[in-house]
Amino acid sequence: MSALSELNEEVGHCQRCEIAKYRTKAVPGEGPEDAEIMFIGEAPGWHEDQQGRPFVGPAGQYLEQLLAFIDLKREQVYIANVIKCRPAANRDPLPAEIQNCCQWLERQIEIIRPKMIVTLGRYSMAMFFPGKSISKIHGTAQKRDGVIYYAMYHPAAALHQQSLRQAIEADMLKIPALLAEAKNMAEVEPQPQQLSMFED
Ligand code: URA
Repeated sequence: MSALSELNEEVGHCQRCEIAKYRTKAVPGEGPEDAEIMFIGEAPGWHEDQQGRPFVGPAGQYLEQLLAFIDLKREQVYIANVIKCRPAANRDPLPAEIQNCCQWLERQIEIIRPKMIVTLGRYSMAMFFPGKSISKIHGTAQKRDGVIYYAMYHPAAALHQQSLRQAIEADMLKIPALLAEAKNMAEVEPQPQQLSMFED
């Protein structure tokens, strides 16, 4: 079994948070272990909890459409979330849940070593762009330690608001050039990930 499959199996047994008791399935993430690009959402919703797979409901269908704009299929990218269990009634993740769960994401990133990390929505943005506001930094990238970090709105938010929809679609179209740049950047010794919750 690969390191990532082992890790994702461990996620399935995690009981660190109260919400673990109520999940149907944990949703570790999915995609190739050597994905060049990783998309990180917020938390599983109802559909994801049922299937144990990320972004398989309406937000996921929209994410797939967005990926198609840049000739990518979901099977080519790694898709994960900040927290791996569905919060009751799709409420926002609690700080303690993010704190308990972020070690899984850190370890996924260490194994996959993506060249580009795309944050979807403000919870995942807050982990990589501490103190920033999504309305200001969406569509902008930061290079750190050989990786390009790029912030986008959450597809679920963009589905329901026309102005965000235009923004997320325009932001998606910037990814191929950034990814090409990321692939040309010098290999850097991987740095241990130390994610935590940052308020914006
Ligand atoms: N929204 C998310 O943030 N993640 C999912 O997996 C589904 C919807």
